[in-house]
Amino acid sequence: MVDVLVLLLLVASVIAYPFGGQTVLTHEQTTTIEPKIVIVAMFQPEQEAWTSKIDFIHNITVPGLCPSYPEVRCVEDYSICQFTTGEGEINAATSVAFLLSSPLFNFSNTYWLLSGIGGGDPTKVTTGSVTFAKYAIQVGLQFQIDSRELLNTHPDWPSGYFSYGTQNPWEYPDAVYGTEVFEVNEKLRDRALELAEQNSDYLNVGDEDNNKLRSFYEFPANQPPKILACDVTTSDNYFTGSVLADYYLNLTSIMTNGTANYCSSAQEENASLEAFIRMAKVGKVNFERIVIMRTISNFVKSPDHLNMDPIDFFLNFPKGTIQHALDNLYIGGIPFVNDVVNNWEDIYKSGELFKPDNYIGDILGSLGGKPDFGKDSYHIS
Ligand SMILES: *[C@@H]1O[C@H](CO)[C@@H](O)[C@H](O)[C@H]1NC(C)=O
Ligand SMILES: *[C@@H]1O[C@H](CO)[C@@H](O)[C@H](O)[C@H]1NC(C)=O
Ligand SMILES: *[C@@H]1O[C@H](CO)[C@@H](O)[C@H](O)[C@H]1NC(C)=O
Ligand SMILES: *[C@@H]1O[C@H](CO)[C@@H](O)[C@H](O)[C@H]1NC(C)=O
Ligand SMILES: *[C@@H]1O[C@H](CO)[C@@H](O)[C@H](O)[C@H]1NC(C)=O
Repeated sequence: MVDVLVLLLLVASVIAYPFGGQTVLTHEQTTTIEPKIVIVAMFQPEQEAWTSKIDFIHNITVPGLCPSYPEVRCVEDYSICQFTTGEGEINAATSVAFLLSSPLFNFSNTYWLLSGIGGGDPTKVTTGSVTFAKYAIQVGLQFQIDSRELLNTHPDWPSGYFSYGTQNPWEYPDAVYGTEVFEVNEKLRDRALELAEQNSDYLNVGDEDNNKLRSFYEFPANQPPKILACDVTTSDNYFTGSVLADYYLNLTSIMTNGTANYCSSAQEENASLEAFIRMAKVGKVNFERIVIMRTISNFVKSPDHLNMDPIDFFLNFPKGTIQHALDNLYIGGIPFVNDVVNNWEDIYKSGELFKPDNYIGDILGSLGGKPDFGKDSYHIS
């Protein structure tokens, strides 16, 4: 019954998109696609980092994906697939939700490599570095007032942001929406990181301007790129500058009770992870099998001692290209992808070896267990 339905859907997708590139699903293919690993990008350059290196010969159009990125692509035997969410939280959540609900695929055993570039905090990383996160922290869900209005009444506030249910920016939020903090499988993260370290010597260190920019900062931002474990924030707000960078550094620590080590900022992880959580709850996807990798494409604030106009720094300062960060997505991520495919039967299919020891899930314990951060109860907004 399921097979017949899927066959009909496949035929329907061929008919519906007769000119959308060769569709690739043959009519003989009557079973669902069960990728061993899916590489998730957020926009075209991140997608190309993989499609330029791996021979994806199948294009599968999936209804509900981002209009700019309507297809999932897969290698010949469908073991590796790649898809692109579109940027920002809304695109990420919607695209992942539709992909995970597509009847064309069975993702129940699939591994996921979220693979994107991000802004780096210069007190933690440098550009070109490859980072693997355990926590994703949504920092955009807050009250905000333009800080210029606080100059007289609240001169000590670090910025115009403060958390829901609080009266100042130093408190743990009292009300949450449930997507504020996600924690993924630390053992699997460590495996991906160890494998990536095999490629440490091959990281692209960047162009002349990338190198020069690093030299204006202090340690560790003045070092060559490396591979390391540290965490990522999500906000639709693409922030820059010391005030917000420092505020978010503190907020990530507050939100995770001091356990997160934030180093990169991006616009999607929490949104994608929320879709994963919901589908994990109904067994469509395994939340233990997600790896979050961000390579650092830029710094979130200007070098302290340069004392320059932050807008001029953001817009005009010669910072070099982001190509090294894009190249390092593949260089840092391919060892894990190969490991999953090559050791599928022995290790990854059952997943026993990398069963998490840490809590995994969201801030509310939606998948069971109790987070090692957060409060016993919240006002759920
Ligand atoms: C898949 O689609 C891309 C554009 O989205 C196109 O460049 C490529 O040739 C297509 N591949 C196949 C096998 O049709
Ligand atoms: C998905 O694949 C798994 C593992 O191969 C299998 O146990 C499960 O029955 C499949 N689910 C569906 C809905 O076909
Ligand atoms: C995003 O996920 C991270 C880690 O999983 C979590 O710490 C953060 O609170 C999440 N943020 C949002 C907005 O969901
Ligand atoms: C961050 O936290 C430290 C230590 O609690 C505090 O001294 C500093 O003022 C805070 N900075 C911001 C921007 O909130
Ligand atoms: C985290 O910090 C908050 C605010 O200080 C506190 O209420 C909560 O109990 C802490 N959670 C854990 C797990 O320690």
